[in-house]
Amino acid sequence: MPSRYDLTLAPDLDAGTFEGTVDVTLEVIESVTEIVLNSHELEVDEARLTSDDVEVEVTKIRTDDDAERLTLDLGSEAEPGSWKLLLGFHGRLNPRLTGFYRSTYADDEGATRVVGTTHFEPTDARRAFPCWDEPDLKAVLGFTIVVDEGLTAVSNGPEIERATLDDGRVQIRFADTMKMSTYLAAWVVGKLDASGPADAGGVPIRIVHVPGKGDLTGFALESSVHSLNWFADYYGIPYPEAKLDNVAIPDFAQGAMENVGCVTYREQVLLIDPARSTQEELLGVAETVAHELAHMWFGDLVTMRWWNGIWLNEAFATFMSMLAVDDFRPDWEIWNEFARGRTNALEVDSLTTTRPIEYEVRSPDDASGMFDTLTYVKGGAVLRMLEQWLGAERFRDGIRRYLGKHAYGNTETHDLWDALEEETGDPVRRVMDAWIFQRGYPAISVELDGDRLRFSQRRFLLSGDEDDTTWPVPLMVRQVAGDRERLDRILIEADGAELDMLAPDAAVVANAGASSFVRVVYDDELRSRIVARATEVLSPVERYTLVDDAWAAVVAGRASAASFVDLVAGLGEEDDLRVWQAILGGLGWFDRFLEGEEREGLRSFVRDLVRPALGRLGWEPAEGEPDLTRALRGQLVQSLAILGADPEAQAHARELELDGGGEPQLLQAAVEAVAADGNAEDFERYWQRYKGAATPQEEERYLFATARFPGEAEIRRVLDASVSDEVRTQDAPYLLARSTTNRQHGPTVWRFIAERWDELQDRFASSNIIGLVSGIRYLSDPDVVGEVEAFFETHDIPQNHLMLQQGLERMRQAAALRQRITPELVERFRA
Ligand code: BES
Ligand code: ZN
Repeated sequence: MPSRYDLTLAPDLDAGTFEGTVDVTLEVIESVTEIVLNSHELEVDEARLTSDDVEVEVTKIRTDDDAERLTLDLGSEAEPGSWKLLLGFHGRLNPRLTGFYRSTYADDEGATRVVGTTHFEPTDARRAFPCWDEPDLKAVLGFTIVVDEGLTAVSNGPEIERATLDDGRVQIRFADTMKMSTYLAAWVVGKLDASGPADAGGVPIRIVHVPGKGDLTGFALESSVHSLNWFADYYGIPYPEAKLDNVAIPDFAQGAMENVGCVTYREQVLLIDPARSTQEELLGVAETVAHELAHMWFGDLVTMRWWNGIWLNEAFATFMSMLAVDDFRPDWEIWNEFARGRTNALEVDSLTTTRPIEYEVRSPDDASGMFDTLTYVKGGAVLRMLEQWLGAERFRDGIRRYLGKHAYGNTETHDLWDALEEETGDPVRRVMDAWIFQRGYPAISVELDGDRLRFSQRRFLLSGDEDDTTWPVPLMVRQVAGDRERLDRILIEADGAELDMLAPDAAVVANAGASSFVRVVYDDELRSRIVARATEVLSPVERYTLVDDAWAAVVAGRASAASFVDLVAGLGEEDDLRVWQAILGGLGWFDRFLEGEEREGLRSFVRDLVRPALGRLGWEPAEGEPDLTRALRGQLVQSLAILGADPEAQAHARELELDGGGEPQLLQAAVEAVAADGNAEDFERYWQRYKGAATPQEEERYLFATARFPGEAEIRRVLDASVSDEVRTQDAPYLLARSTTNRQHGPTVWRFIAERWDELQDRFASSNIIGLVSGIRYLSDPDVVGEVEAFFETHDIPQNHLMLQQGLERMRQAAALRQRITPELVERFRA
């Protein structure tokens, strides 16, 4: 059992190598003749085992890179007691964005500068130092980092000592960490600047970044201060480290990583200029910061015992980030955005290849596979359902009880349910076990039965297969009759539930507030009551789920495409961003399935729907407008130009894009719109603007928009750039995925990916490979679908095996949808 690691690291950034020693304090519990720990792609050249004055000889050092293990054979038995294990090792800074790796940026003079940085979760601390790399083997870490003069180093704890060595290098020592899991260790070395500190209740917060980006740190500092204060208050426990650095890394495989005291981020979700950004981009920063800081307690202070429990860690941080952002920016109506994101989880979880939220994990690949939509989004959504059902305060008190009890320790999922149950007396464990150990979710049918309402449940599966799984379903039901309103909190069991009507003609909103992880199917009468008065009786998020459920019914073959068209045709008065996104999302699929005259028919339908809505807002942003109004305008302009092929909108977009300034939301829309029918000259301009972008968001905006160009030559350029130094490996998989959704050239892009499969495996971070193929579900042409299926019969993505299966099933679903509804759409949109 290790209890502390004293680690000294000396990276040589230019050579791309590092040397290190680790001195582990450990307890031998039973006498042993060998010691086994984790180590991966490290050369271990020295090993000594000592205890006070005794030394046991290490006779052999064996490394097994497949098992990611290091075995030390001992010349004699090491007896129970306290020991020190000293290991000397060296390794290479790899380019694959994991372990201790190499990131680069161009400095003022255009010279390439190296940053040595770490990413360990789930199982790559062993790539940076030999250790017992399992989350329940918590220990204190003491770091010493030796750097060339002029470089900066940051790590989990604050710097406490610095000395210049004889050779001129600088040795920096950091304060001990709390007792924690190895996957949370971190350090970053390079020529870096820091902004701040800002103060959050005595904790200094900084934003660390490459030189020259200090003017992009204000918003992240402000969000961090808000989040840290808000969480300390919510959890009722002080922040567990002495300082907080948020570090922007130029090359980063994930969005961000919750290393205690040294949180690492992609630049795009940390460094931002509010005056040049969209609401979505700002939200991206605020949400990511809140998510990672939520982990400082939930995940870092209290940690899952094993990786099967990672879902709770991630689901909880996702849920908490919503609460914190809602407090930070109530005008963003974040829970509505959450509902929109939840649709993706509802879609995955209606596939036959879905999985239960909590799932067995044995290998590192299994652990990697857990970081998916079901973990983050379904997990977050079932926590929201529980919180709403228990009541926010009772839920919070249960969380405090849980964290207080398990601080510095490890837990199983049921420890949380037990704490909540003790706090509230409600059957939390029974309800939640059904949601986390069973795959899928129910559609709730609501029917009028005289003066009563009858609720029943059946698993919602796109395939239409019969399935008798049931859940205890927490549900809020609102009834509106005249000026009277009633809210009921019910639990629908296997045999359904009943409720009195408030009045015979009441409008009934099942899943009021849209916080349950279900779909709702009303009988015709109940449905017509709410559709007729949608903006009056339904809140925006309830209207969102109405449209989304209607769309899901089309995809599942339970409703006609025409029924969706009719529904949205009646919603032209809508003024909510997310409802519009649901409407336009469905219509966007229709557009993929149509050509020629019928496609023109759809375009004209879109123009008739969108123009009046845009007319109400006006083309020009007004002074002091809410962010969501600006975002809605951007969305409408973009859809009018692309989906509606509206000449006026297209011309307007072109003007805005050429100008390159103006209101960010409109600029973003214009960048998408111009790309959608851009020519070779436009492409060159996009590429220049990508390269010369002033902010990470602008860079991303121009880069990803290139995937939309309709010309083959342009898409070929994108493909070539994706496997060259022109595009960072953190972005290229997603650029390729987006290009796969290109209407004209998706199949070409797919073939490029397939042909270069092995090369791409070597080039990109292992965790980004699944992202590379995330575009296949838009390939609905039967021949191409066949090609993709054939390819994956002989290729796998072991680190995300299930997600791949889900992607393939979604692709087949899209192809089936296309086949089923195209005739109907042709009929509906023929001139
Ligand atoms: N712990 C994760 C980072 C991570 C993801 C590690 C996948 C290993 C594999 C971190 O807390 C996280 O969830 N990051 C998200 C961003 C967040 C805002 C949802 C990410 O990286 O996408
Ligand atoms: Zn997380």
